[in-house]
Amino acid sequence: MATETDGGQIRRADSRDLDRVAALWIALSEHHASSDPLFRLRSDPDAEIQCLLAATLRDPEAAIFVCERDGALLGFCSVRIDRAPPIQLEVRRAEITDLMVDATERRRGLGRRLVERALAWVVERGVERCEVRVASLNHEGQHFWRSLGFGDLMDVLQRRL
Ligand SMILES: CC(C)(COP(=O)(O)OP(=O)(O)OC[C@H]1O[C@@H](n2cnc3c(N)ncnc32)[C@H](O)[C@@H]1OP(=O)(O)O)[C@@H](O)C(=O)NCCC(=O)NCCS
Repeated sequence: MATETDGGQIRRADSRDLDRVAALWIALSEHHASSDPLFRLRSDPDAEIQCLLAATLRDPEAAIFVCERDGALLGFCSVRIDRAPPIQLEVRRAEITDLMVDATERRRGLGRRLVERALAWVVERGVERCEVRVASLNHEGQHFWRSLGFGDLMDVLQRRL
């Protein structure tokens, strides 16, 4: 069963999705590594990634959403809610930690739908702000997040030592 003119059905991921979400996550890391080797994965990361994903599924302050069509996962979005430092007025904020749409399914609104679903989950929990870290060289990501109303907050600087 698919929705949104056959763009796929968005739903919460569960333990049966672990291997397929792990495959998307590896594809996401390879995509990032193509612009910066910092994002390269260790060899054979599948089991470790599935452990991390399973922990996310158990965490009540985190969620993974997937888009499925005809049994295939077309994309996923992970989100979590964090506590702000106790000296700040803000108590909790959200972060979208991972977002990936299969390369053959892009520019059809799937990324937007996944993020909107994740943000609805955040808002349902009374959280009013969401962050995302997007690499400076990830031009499609930069365009994507800005088109969804995300704006500059801070730069993450680094220095090789
Ligand atoms: C970023 C990503 C998730 C976007 O998914 P998508 O399903 O293609 O995005 P959508 O179709 O919902 O696009 C929504 C809007 O974002 C903007 N956008 C998306 N991709 C874009 C691109 N390559 N160039 C310019 N703008 C883009 C457009 O404004 C688009 O609206 P439009 O198509 O009506 O013009 C997808 O390109 C992807 O998986 N990239 C590789 C992984 C990645 O970079 N993830 C983000 C990490 S922070």
